[in-house]
Amino acid sequence: MAVGGTMSDKLKLLLLAANSVDTLDSRATDEIQAIDRAIQAAPFRERFDIQKEPALRVADIGPLVLKHNPDLLHISGHSRETEGLVLDSELRHVAKVQCSKLKDVLLSAGSKLQLVFFGFCHSAECAKETSARIDFVLGIEGEIPVKSSLAFNPAFYAALASGHSIQEAVDYGRSIVGLKKLHRARAIVLHVGEGADPTKRLIKSTTRADELKSDLEQLVHAAGSERDWSNLRKAIDCGALVISQQETEVDNQKEYTFTENSGIFHTDLRGDVYRRVREVLQPTPPGIAPPFRPSVFVGREDALKKIRQLLTVQRSANQENITVIHGLPGVGKTSLVSAIGHDPEIARSFKEGILWVSLEQKPNLITEIARWGRALGSEEILKAPTVNDATAQLAALLKTRQMLLIVDDVWETEHAAPFAGAAGDQCSLMITTRLPMVVDGITTDQTRTYNLPVLTEEFALMVLRILVPDVVAENERDCLKLVQDLERLPLALHVAAGLLRREARLGWGVSELIEKIRKGTELIDKAAPKDRIGKDGVIPSVASLLNRSTDVLDEQTRECFIYLGAFAPKPAAFDLEALKMVWQVDDPKPIVRRLVGHGLLEPVGRRFQMHRILVDHAKSLCTDD
Ligand SMILES: Nc1ncnc2c1ncn2[C@@H]1O[C@H](COP(=O)(O)OP(=O)(O)OP(=O)(O)O)[C@@H](O)[C@H]1O
Ligand SMILES: [Mg+2]
Repeated sequence: MAVGGTMSDKLKLLLLAANSVDTLDSRATDEIQAIDRAIQAAPFRERFDIQKEPALRVADIGPLVLKHNPDLLHISGHSRETEGLVLDSELRHVAKVQCSKLKDVLLSAGSKLQLVFFGFCHSAECAKETSARIDFVLGIEGEIPVKSSLAFNPAFYAALASGHSIQEAVDYGRSIVGLKKLHRARAIVLHVGEGADPTKRLIKSTTRADELKSDLEQLVHAAGSERDWSNLRKAIDCGALVISQQETEVDNQKEYTFTENSGIFHTDLRGDVYRRVREVLQPTPPGIAPPFRPSVFVGREDALKKIRQLLTVQRSANQENITVIHGLPGVGKTSLVSAIGHDPEIARSFKEGILWVSLEQKPNLITEIARWGRALGSEEILKAPTVNDATAQLAALLKTRQMLLIVDDVWETEHAAPFAGAAGDQCSLMITTRLPMVVDGITTDQTRTYNLPVLTEEFALMVLRILVPDVVAENERDCLKLVQDLERLPLALHVAAGLLRREARLGWGVSELIEKIRKGTELIDKAAPKDRIGKDGVIPSVASLLNRSTDVLDEQTRECFIYLGAFAPKPAAFDLEALKMVWQVDDPKPIVRRLVGHGLLEPVGRRFQMHRILVDHAKSLCTDD
């Protein structure tokens, strides 16, 4: 059984790429690969049987359509207004095929075609004619920039493979073109045959919620295949499916909410099913596991890939096996290492498990080292007189062990030293910190550091869409501006979503609030997201999370940081000359160095940038002081 449906009702999608020697670029092949990847990441990918034919020649068109007899056909390539689609013919000669001739071949060879996408320029008229016989036909009016179709096409198919209707998929594709600030999204036109309904879903389902729910239940009870689980994992990794941990008690049964496909709907999952799904998707390793990653965790596929590589591929006895992840407060470092800590691939590489610790700003190192010792079976370390003794004892325990060591939230280089010192040859150590100066203190090997970026605009908007779907649906444009103004920081997005949810629950419009959050320092004094609950059981405010970075500054540097809040342009970037003026100093470099070291300014080219949340923090410190 497969997530999203049974194998029998698959839709066959034939992707044809016409790369001609005449046009000398491989855009068409790139495009069909991108479409394939987009579908693979969508929740109903199992419903698609994808056939790719990357080097289409004119003589192949008919035979390929006959052979595959597809339900959906996409043709990607170049075309010229008067000559038609440019293809190779036999003997690598160039052939030009008028769309009308192509249409005749398709109509006679394809008996099941429901949808055809002529993904080349000047094809709209031909699409219109074709729609007299085929229900849904897309074509391109005039010309479209390559980048725009590369944005539209994968998005269109991803939406179809997420269970959307054809019209919704077209709208979604266009919105992605807009989001990427590309042009001519409206050049792609959908022609609908008489009597056909573009609001119909290609993926047949009663309600997607019920279907996914029953799929998950079947997966659990019928012990789904590795491939099914891996598809489910992919859907979760790309944010198409969210299983949240908010428990509600119904008839003594715990139920969990899950949200499918970017927050289009929510439903509940029985407790035992949820726990089993989580156990397989996020196995708990032996040792001390980090917390589970947050239920909403999107846009980190690349980061996860990179970190997995650093932790596994490049391990060798003579090399320092340290990986350092750094980034802004609230960018998602802890969430990322939590995901790594429960990653099945990582579990296979570190069979003896994981040791995890989150350090305070002033940690009791012996206690923390002793906790690891206890997990390895020794009660002795707590009695160690010095950190060095404790480190030596831990080193003896780790010497031959193959474990992943995770030290989250390091504030001083020396705090990482015992863990680095104790790591055996077969261990990998992963450290996170907000502070570039700590990164420099730990390793000089740039290839072993990873600067975790803020989310892309697309994923940042997805976070809002998952957290407050109705608000985003009604205020798409404003929410996009909000995401841009908050500079795509996960922490800020969650806090903003919380405010929007509260307002929406009261039945009020939210556009005023969106504007207030965009323009003001609205978020700073608000509570951080619930998953930021401290060891003391208290949820800190955003300000207190940020204070951790600014309280450790010396008085002059802190003052200079606060001044930046008052003088920050939008977006906040300063060159040295501007900093000299703001701070009224002859040489701003020493202060810049300290602020950069603390992760409060970031060098970009010849300028220094300050994240919006830090600007807000500086502004609020200015009024406090
Ligand atoms: N990829 C993501 N998608 C959606 N939300 C995320 C993502 N990453 C993190 N978050 C959310 O953003 C908030 C901050 O994340 P996290 O605590 O991991 O940041 P951090 O970088 O460790 O912060 P700090 O520097 O304070 O330790 C959390 O509420 C978390 O759930
Ligand atoms: Mg953290």
